[in-house]
Amino acid sequence: MKRILITGGAGFIGSHVVRLFVKEYPEYEIFNLDLLTYAGNLENLRDVELEDNYTFLKADINNAEEIETLFEKYKFDNVIHLAAESHVDRSINDPLIFVKTNIIGTLNLLNAARKYWDNFTNKVFYHISTDEVYGTLGDDGLFTENTPYDPNSPYSASKAGSDHFVRAYGETYGLPYIISNCSNNYGPNQFPEKLIPLFINNILNKKELPVYGDGKYTRDWLFVKDHAAAIDLAFHQGRIKETYNIGGFNEWQNIDLIHILCKLMDIKLGRNEGDSAKLITYVKDRPGHDKRYAIDADKINNELGWKPSVTFEEGLEKTINWYLSNHKWLQNVTSGVYQGYYSKQYN
Ligand code: NAD
Ligand code: DAU
Repeated sequence: MKRILITGGAGFIGSHVVRLFVKEYPEYEIFNLDLLTYAGNLENLRDVELEDNYTFLKADINNAEEIETLFEKYKFDNVIHLAAESHVDRSINDPLIFVKTNIIGTLNLLNAARKYWDNFTNKVFYHISTDEVYGTLGDDGLFTENTPYDPNSPYSASKAGSDHFVRAYGETYGLPYIISNCSNNYGPNQFPEKLIPLFINNILNKKELPVYGDGKYTRDWLFVKDHAAAIDLAFHQGRIKETYNIGGFNEWQNIDLIHILCKLMDIKLGRNEGDSAKLITYVKDRPGHDKRYAIDADKINNELGWKPSVTFEEGLEKTINWYLSNHKWLQNVTSGVYQGYYSKQYN
């Protein structure tokens, strides 16, 4: 029996983690704490919201008092922390909210855990982070858990700051923590500001596909359910005070991935081959754009037996199918405050 606080559970990765925990562990109480920003959407969890072991709490991790009240009331004994501002482009336009949510918000949770966990037996503060904290790679090499932090964007600097605080609370106060740093996720329920869902949505609407710079930037893509499975394993079997890198061993240059996506979308939509690729538009580069990310996921593989189970081909197929059959979701999330791609402002 555990009482697990999952933050950011209405977001992309968080919703997959919440679903997995609610379904796999009926004996646990799962509390999903989310502010429902532009990126959070309870539609993502319709299929589990009536389960007995699930409770949604609308709250702001930036509000220390509110967080403490919830710890006192619900007596969470574990935390899986995903709530964050997550988009690099937005962080370039408005760094402050990234500092608030990603650093101060994390501190508020750490402080509440410290205050309300009278002993640390069977407790864990599991902090979900990103490979972007390691900065950028050249043409070869992989990020390992020992790669020095070298963040380049306001987003990655804020995530690096939060990682450091989690580690510091472990060293200073003995708070039991685990951190994992994951590569680029893709799959159902991702807000259409990130590359893959943005381009799917734009192709659907015959809008231009803005490729930053020369398009020869490399990312390591992982299907979101594989990330959720890795989080499940690391949470239950990971060693306290350890970091685990999670990645897909699946590197693609943006432009190659975009061409595959265009081809698949032409087939799915019954359009002529080449129609979607005609929408490709090279735009001014993202400032501070990291050239290449690639994860060495050997540690989590060797220690916990995790490896990705979904091939990129299968994952893209599942993702496209999901977006095509969830038109309403796409319409709903794009009709609000979110106004489209941000790089326009760099031009
Ligand atoms: P997302 O933007 O889809 O979801 C973030 C969630 O956090 C949303 O539901 C939002 O409402 C919530 N939130 C934001 N501010 C909040 C606040 N002040 N209080 C409470 N809730 C708040 O993000 P995602 O892509 O699912 O990423 C989840 C986590 O995983 C983040 O910590 C991110 O840094 C990390 N991560 C993401 C990726 C990726 O490829 N998307 C890769 C590695 C790590
Ligand atoms: O590596 C993990 C990180 O991956 C996560 O920590 C972040 O939360 C997540 O947003 C993602 O960051 P990226 O910046 O890599 O993701 P994004 O989808 O924004 O961009 C992927 C690549 O595509 C990147 O090289 C920029 C490029 N791009 C992106 C967009 C949105 C374009 O060329 N055009 C675009 O319109």
